[in-house]
Order: sequence, then C-alpha cells, then structure tokens
Amino acid sequence: MDNDFTQKLDRLREQINKRIEFYACEKNLNSMAEPVRYILLNKGKRLRPILTLLSAEVFGFNTKKTIDVALAFEILHNFTLVHDDIMDNDDFRRGKETVHKKWNVSVAILTGDALLGLAYKALTFAPSKKLSFLVELMNQTNLDLCDGQNLDKDFEKRKDVTTADYVKMISLKTAKLLSVCAKTGAFVSNASEREVQILENFGNELGLGFQIQDDLFDIVTEQNILGKDIGSDLAEGKKTFAYLHAVETLPKEKLNRFFTLTGKGTISKTELEEAKKILYENGTIQICEKEMNFHFSNAEKCLFELKDKNTKNLHNFLNLVVTRKF
Ligand code: IPE
Ligand code: IPE
Ligand code: MG
Ligand code: MG
Ligand code: MG
Repeated sequence: MDNDFTQKLDRLREQINKRIEFYACEKNLNSMAEPVRYILLNKGKRLRPILTLLSAEVFGFNTKKTIDVALAFEILHNFTLVHDDIMDNDDFRRGKETVHKKWNVSVAILTGDALLGLAYKALTFAPSKKLSFLVELMNQTNLDLCDGQNLDKDFEKRKDVTTADYVKMISLKTAKLLSVCAKTGAFVSNASEREVQILENFGNELGLGFQIQDDLFDIVTEQNILGKDIGSDLAEGKKTFAYLHAVETLPKEKLNRFFTLTGKGTISKTELEEAKKILYENGTIQICEKEMNFHFSNAEKCLFELKDKNTKNLHNFLNLVVTRKF
C-alpha cells in the first residue's frame, strides 16, 4: 500500500481513538462505564469512521469538522457488535472475550443500549442545520440493521433461503451502515445531491463485498488472526453465500456430510477443516470470492463517476478493504 496512505491511516486512527475516549469517559455511565469502555476502547479497525472522514475530505472538510458524526456511526456499530455476539453465541471479539462472556447477557444488552445513547450524543455535535437529517438517517440505519439481523437469525431455521434473500439480508445488516458512513462524509461537507448519492452507492457495494468477505474469513482464517470465533457461521447454520451455494451444488453424499458437520451449535477444528475441504473442492469458496469481487469492482466504478474530484484516498481505502486479512 502506498506509504502516504499508511501514514494517513495511522493519523486518522489516532484521532479517532483519542476522540472516542471522550464518549467512553462519559461520567453518567456510572456502573456501565467498565463494559462500555471495554468495547469502545478495544481498538477495532475503525473502518467506518475512516470512511466518513475520507469521504468528507474529498469535498474539502477536515477531520476536526466531521469526527463526531463519524464517531456516532462507529459507536452505533459497536452497539450492534455487542448484541450480535449474544445472538451468534460467540465468545471472542477483537481478540478478547465478548461482553456477555466476560460479564453476562444482561450487562451486554445494557452495554448496547448505553452505546446507542452515546451514538446519539455524538450526533448532536453535527452542524445544527444538518442535525434533523442525520438523526433521521441514524434512526433508519438502526431500523434496517435490526431488520437485517432479524432476517439473519430467522434464516438459520429456514430451508428455503435463496442467494437473493441473502444479498437483501446483508444489504440491511452490513451494507447499509457502510453506505451511510460514506454518504454522511459527503453530506456534512456540502457535496451535491448527486455526489452524496454516488458515495452512498459506493458504500453499499463496498459493504456487500465486505460481508461476503467476512463470511469467508469465518471459514478460512485462523482465530488468532481474526480475533473472533472461527467456524461460528457454520456451527450456527448461517445461510451465508457459501452455505447456500454448497446446498445448491454439492452432490448428495457430500451434502449429507456437510449437513452432519454444520448447524449443531458447535464445530470442532477437524470438522471445520473437513467442511472447508468440501467447500474448496466444490468450487464454493472460489464462487464466493467471485461474488465478493463483483461488488468491490462495482464500488470502484462508483468512484470513477466522481471524475472531477480527488478520490485517490477512497481508492486506497477500497484497496485496504479488498486486501484485509481480518
Ligand atoms: C464486523 O465489522 C461486523 C461486520 C459487519 C462483519 P468489522 O470487521 O469492521 O469490525 P471491527 O470494528 O473492526 O471490530
Ligand atoms: C455482522 O454479521 C452484522 C452486524 C454486526 C450487524 P456477523 O455476525 O457476521 O459479524 P461478526 O462476524 O460476528 O463480526
Ligand atoms: Mg451475526
Ligand atoms: Mg456475529
Ligand atoms: Mg461474520
């Protein structure tokens, strides 16, 4: 990756981590301070606020002006992670125990609730003329996220889920938020309606690729690199693109074996290795990569529509996501 961009990322992460302390140290958190600080300060990749800040820069707005709005959506993201780990029954996140594992489910539910409050608090730092739009945007994002997460859970039990259903579900649970992060950077920086729309489309395609990639990591990446439980989606019988492709295309015997290995709530290391082998040999992993790259290339096309702007760093950001290892 280009050296200037690596330094830029370091700088942005430093600014993000510094400002997030302000929210993590909110004094009214009282007994909730510890779990809230635990999740907020445990250094995720910060991709969403970086996306907002880079998108704002394209339209001439600096970090200082946009960081709180960027953080509002990062805090919302952290809220969804805490609740997601309860729903997905996962023990690890960002290389540490999940909140419900370290404390308990009640504390984790409340941590999510507290984070939602902090997300709205961050939003109040937005320019007053933009506030009502942003509040509505956050409301809608949250509704879509809940809808997507509910479909994700519901699909676990269903046998009639299609790849089209899957794409709809991930567009709600994941792509919506990335799309809003890209769009918000442009919106607060007074970009034109057309430009805001292009950034929204960029974030959406980026987000679709991002979730397909995340689903692949669950199968092919080592836990110590990922920082989260591996094989969790297979254990829970998640209807990921890979799962759906396997069910549609595996020959009967292999499919029966695949069903025996997955959907039991747990999966051992050897079972995961076997499932992985079945998926590779069937070409499923390769098909998922193709689908992921389709969305990443659509995202790139969106950036080409902003011909008269300097989108170099957004291209670099896309490349960062495309080449990420966790
Ligand atoms: C995880 O997002 C949740 C998904 C949408 C797949 P990230 O991979 O961006 O998580 P952090 O914030 O870096 O931990
Ligand atoms: C992420 O889906 C969606 C949200 C957190 C809203 P996953 O369940 O795949 O995310 P990870 O893999 O646990 O981070
Ligand atoms: Mg989930
Ligand atoms: Mg999960
Ligand atoms: Mg996942």
